[in-house]
Amino acid sequence: SILILDFGSQYSHLITRRCRELNVYCEMLPCTQKIKDLDWKPKGIILSGSPYSVYDEGAPRVDPDVFDAGVPVLGICYGLQEIAWNHGGKVDPHDRREYGHAMIDVVKTGDKHMDALFEGQEGQVQVWMSHGDQLSKAPADFEVIARTSTAPFAAMVHRTKQIYGIQFHPEVTHSPRGKELFENFIKICGCERNWTMETFIDKEIKRIREIVGPKGRVLGAISGGVDSSVAARLMHEAIGDRFHAVMVDNGVLRANEATQVYDMLSKDLGVNLTVVDASDLFLGKLKDVEDPEKKRKIIGNTFIEVFEAEVAKLEKAAEREEAEALSKGNAHESKGKFEFLLQGTLYPDVIESISFKGPSATIKTHHNVGGLLEDMKLKLIEPLRELFKDEVRALGRLLGIPSHLVGRHPFPGPGLAIRILGPVTREQVAILQHADSIYIEEIRAAGLYDQISQAFAVLLPVRAVGVQGDKRTYDQVIALRAAQTTDFMTATWFPFPPEFLSKVSNRITNEVQGVNRVVLDISSKPPATIEWL
Ligand code: XMP
Repeated sequence: SILILDFGSQYSHLITRRCRELNVYCEMLPCTQKIKDLDWKPKGIILSGSPYSVYDEGAPRVDPDVFDAGVPVLGICYGLQEIAWNHGGKVDPHDRREYGHAMIDVVKTGDKHMDALFEGQEGQVQVWMSHGDQLSKAPADFEVIARTSTAPFAAMVHRTKQIYGIQFHPEVTHSPRGKELFENFIKICGCERNWTMETFIDKEIKRIREIVGPKGRVLGAISGGVDSSVAARLMHEAIGDRFHAVMVDNGVLRANEATQVYDMLSKDLGVNLTVVDASDLFLGKLKDVEDPEKKRKIIGNTFIEVFEAEVAKLEKAAEREEAEALSKGNAHESKGKFEFLLQGTLYPDVIESISFKGPSATIKTHHNVGGLLEDMKLKLIEPLRELFKDEVRALGRLLGIPSHLVGRHPFPGPGLAIRILGPVTREQVAILQHADSIYIEEIRAAGLYDQISQAFAVLLPVRAVGVQGDKRTYDQVIALRAAQTTDFMTATWFPFPPEFLSKVSNRITNEVQGVNRVVLDISSKPPATIEWL
């Protein structure tokens, strides 16, 4: 497997994707990771790009042990400059960024090891550049293996060690032959290309059984989305009825969601599931709260509180069951205690939490990762934490989950609370649920659902004037969001046909009491995020 050290580039996660697409397992860790602290041995290390200049104060520095780990190293952009910096090369700060398409000239050295990275490529090759600094002098032991008219060291290699550096970004699709470089690097590393979803299932089921042990129960957090359902199905496969799923109705779910999910999971998938209606508790705590981070914290914390209470109940029931089994002399039937909490955390959430952000960057906290589980007595189990969304869908299909469930758009843990921009009340939730269900119903009816990655309505904290019949209204505004994305890290807005939009708008303003205006969100990510909060 490959270790990717992230220096905070917006493209870092794409390196992971490229390796995965080549069926090679890889893991991304922050660039500050010490090699000696790893509990596994990578077969190769890739250093990502970075928004920093190697000259910046506080610029991230790689552990120099990387170069003595005895495995091939590939530095991309800033990664190349880090290699140069560590080997006595010279990096020049440029006042102008080079950004966009470029043609590199591949330079053949005639040496097998040095030419290995560009094997199969020669002459001019189109690549994508995005950098400020560039190398003006290669370190003593390095040879140039590609150049451009403006960058004399577009790629270099150590004469004897397997250390390669490239200035451009092979991980983005704008470098059409970039994937070949990863393929070559993987060959250089001698990685086996055996990472598939089937092997993932086998490996993960084995891992879950090892973690949980022959006795011991797992409690599942079901949100209704694809992730937690797939995770639950996998858990059910691994440990059968020692897995118990609980869905908390937090009062900010989509319309009829709790019932639908209950039917789907228990009927279609045979998973043990209890639905707890805690909507009063959640809505009580959310009253008058507008700050999105506060909303996330409240929902995260209350969720855990409710779970703990539910665990206590299930724990008692489990104890009774154990006592009964023992009294009948059936000790082998004992399933043990609830020890773990399942969560459907995905890789993008993990990346957002671990990737190198530098000292000042703040990001949204995703309530399902980090911090909040500290005081829980349950240990966290996250079988999907290595997967991207499309991989989870593929996994779901392999596990026999019905396609209407596998194809469902993701839904955030804090639910409608982060789609109601003002205070969250039962009335506001009802308005948004109604508008959202009309919107989604029309998207499905128009056959557009599967072309959109995530669509939802948002309730804005403004009032606008309208006219209905002869009466002036002063009502609320709904925004429609529809994002197209492959990885949820970047996104574009979905171009609906105008007739579709007027139909949705008419229906919402006519059918949803309290809404007299509908607007369309046409922002991409970045700079906007997919959610409004
Ligand atoms: P953003 O808004 O960050 O969303 O562009 C990217 C994806 O993450 C989801 N999202 C969340 N999911 N808890 C979650 O479980 C959260 O707090 C949260 N915030 C955003 C969002 O719906 C989208 O799929």
